[in-house]
Amino acid sequence: MIEKDFVPSEYTKEIKEGKVTYRSPSNIALVKYWGKKENQIPANPSISFTLSHCATTTSVSYKKLKGPTSEFSFDLFFDGGPKEDFKPKIETFFNRIEKYLPFLKDYHFIINTSNSFPHSSGIASSASSMSALALCLMDLERELNSEISIDFFNKKTSFLARSGSGSACRSIEGSIVQWGSHETTIGSSDLYGIKYPGKVHGVFENYRDTVLLVDKGQKQVSSTVGHDLMHGHAFSEQRFAQAHKNLTRLNAVFAEGDLSSFIEIVESEALTLHAMMMTSLPYFILIKPKTLQIINKIWNFRETSKTHLCFTLDAGANVHILYPEVEKEEIMQFIKNELVVYCENGQYICDKIGFGAKKL
Ligand code: DP6
Repeated sequence: MIEKDFVPSEYTKEIKEGKVTYRSPSNIALVKYWGKKENQIPANPSISFTLSHCATTTSVSYKKLKGPTSEFSFDLFFDGGPKEDFKPKIETFFNRIEKYLPFLKDYHFIINTSNSFPHSSGIASSASSMSALALCLMDLERELNSEISIDFFNKKTSFLARSGSGSACRSIEGSIVQWGSHETTIGSSDLYGIKYPGKVHGVFENYRDTVLLVDKGQKQVSSTVGHDLMHGHAFSEQRFAQAHKNLTRLNAVFAEGDLSSFIEIVESEALTLHAMMMTSLPYFILIKPKTLQIINKIWNFRETSKTHLCFTLDAGANVHILYPEVEKEEIMQFIKNELVVYCENGQYICDKIGFGAKKL
C-alpha cells in the first residue's frame, strides 16, 4: 500500500454525533527504531512485543459543527482534568493526518484519556496514547464509510498513529509487530506496522516483561531530538545495517525458540541504542548508575541460575526484564530479592506480551 491509498474518497454516510472508546497498549522494541527521515519514515526497521497491562484508554466524543472551522476544535482531558500542555502535540498530530481524515475540521472533539501505568513513571506513553487516539478517529471514519475492511482499518490506524509517534504504529495489533521495510519480511512497510508474519515458537507465548522504574523523572533529551541526532552521526550507516541484520537473525530465533540468540540480539540492541546517544553530537547519557547495577545483577543471575532473562532499555533509565513464562517464579523472586532496591520508591510493573488494542 502507498500513501495515497489512505486518502479517502467521498464518505457514504453522515454522522452527527457519537462516542468511541479504545484501550491501546504500549510496546517494547526488541530491534530499536532510532533515527528517522521526513514524515516519520524510520531509518531502519524495528520489531516489538506488544504489551498487555501498560495501556492508555481514550474516549472521543464527537459532534458535527454547523460548518467546517479553520482551526481544529477539541477539548482534552487527562485523568479527568483539562490538560492544556498536551494540546500542541494533538494539534500537530491533527495537522499531519488531516489529509487522510478530511472530516477532522467538521467536528468538535472531546478527548478523555488516562494511562494504566503510574503518571510520570518514565514509561513512554506516546505509543499507547497516540495509537489510542488514532483508533478512535479511525472508528469514526469507519462509521462514515462502512466498506472499510479490518485489514485496511489496522493498516490505516497504524499509518496515522505513526504520524503522532513512530513507535505508536506498533501498538495496534499483537503480539509481535514489525515496522519498516525489511528485505526478507513479506508485507513489511515504512508506512505502518504489521503483525509479524513469520513462525513463532511456543516459548514466546505469554513472554513476560517486568519494568523496573529506576528513574521517574522527566527525560533530559526527548526521543524526537535523539532521532534527529542520527542525521550525520558517525556510526549511523553501520547502525541501520545492523538493525536489518538483527531482524533477519530474529526470524530464525523466533521460529526455533533459540533463547540464547534472542538474549544476545535484544541486549545488544538496547546497548547499541544507548551507545548511539553517547556518540552523537551533542552526546548525552540517559542510563543511570542504578541501570548499570541492575544489568550486572541480571548477568550474574543468568550465569548462576541458567535461566533466560534478559534486559532491554527504552530511551531512558528504566529497565525492562524479558523472560519466558515457565521461569516466572524463579525470576520474580530474584527481582524482588535483588533488584527492587534499585527502583524509585520500590516501584516496578509486571507486564507480559499482549494481543493489541481493544474497543471498549
Ligand atoms: C527508543 O516513537 O518515541 O523507544 O517518533 O519521535 O515519537 P517519535 O519517537 P518514539 O521513539 C521511540 C524510540 C525507542 C525505540 C523503539 O521504541 O523502537
